[in-house]
Amino acid sequence: MHDALHQLTSRIRDARRITVMTGAGVSAASGVPTFRGPGGLWRQYRPEELATAQAFARDPSLVWEWYEWRRERIASCTPNRAHEVLASWSQRSSSCRIVTQNVDDLHVRAGTRGLVRLHGSIWELSCWRRCASAPRTWRDEHVPLPERPPRCRFCDGVARPAVVWFGESLDPADVAAAHDATSCDVFLTVGTSAIVYPAAAFVHDAKQRGAFTAEINLEPTPASSVVDVAIHGPAEEILGNIEAMLGG
Ligand code: OAD
Repeated sequence: MHDALHQLTSRIRDARRITVMTGAGVSAASGVPTFRGPGGLWRQYRPEELATAQAFARDPSLVWEWYEWRRERIASCTPNRAHEVLASWSQRSSSCRIVTQNVDDLHVRAGTRGLVRLHGSIWELSCWRRCASAPRTWRDEHVPLPERPPRCRFCDGVARPAVVWFGESLDPADVAAAHDATSCDVFLTVGTSAIVYPAAAFVHDAKQRGAFTAEINLEPTPASSVVDVAIHGPAEEILGNIEAMLGG
């Protein structure tokens, strides 16, 4: 592990372009529940009952109750060392890209530049009917929301969380930005189980395009056998160590 850490750090030091793909594991130390680990959301809840358009059409209030519970929980969390280190890399180099699957916006709160949010934001809403007068999404950070379900400000219909649900497509502009970022010198995947597509595919693309690839995760994942170095441990600690070795 020591060697892997040094190898990754020296690649990062020499890289012109770094891309980091993050998942729920980077927010775990902040107290945001992950999806699949011990205590993970998908161990307690059935995704098809809460995170699909069908579930929302059936019972928007129930789905909103779950999202409001998550918003309340996330509102009390603050960015940890992992978010801070990635934010400072993004501030030091304008070609650094952080691509996240997280909807908690802790990367935003840490001051990350060049952020691609593949799965949307729990702090944004959109019109369920996609009425013509509403923008694609708008920000609403009320906790709790004034009514459940909240209304579209533009047509007074029902509003939904502006997150990507199972069975829905990602925003093509976000996918294009993430794919563009796979053309890099170092591609690092951090705190993700690496099984949800298309996010999980980017490490393969980066490798094919010649990047040095690495994983930082508590445990091995399907990406572990693909990357050049896999480092298993807490992201907040390992990224902190790398930053210290970089002199940051
Ligand atoms: P998961 O919950 O699937 O995976 C989190 C990963 O982080 C696991 O492999 C953990 O071992 C690891 N982990 C936990 N704590 C960690 C720490 N402190 N440091 C490093 N690693 C740690 O979360 P995601 O991979 O983000 O999609 O899940 C991907 C998508 O599936 C989510 O964006 C969400 C979910 O369904 C949508 O909502 C569309």
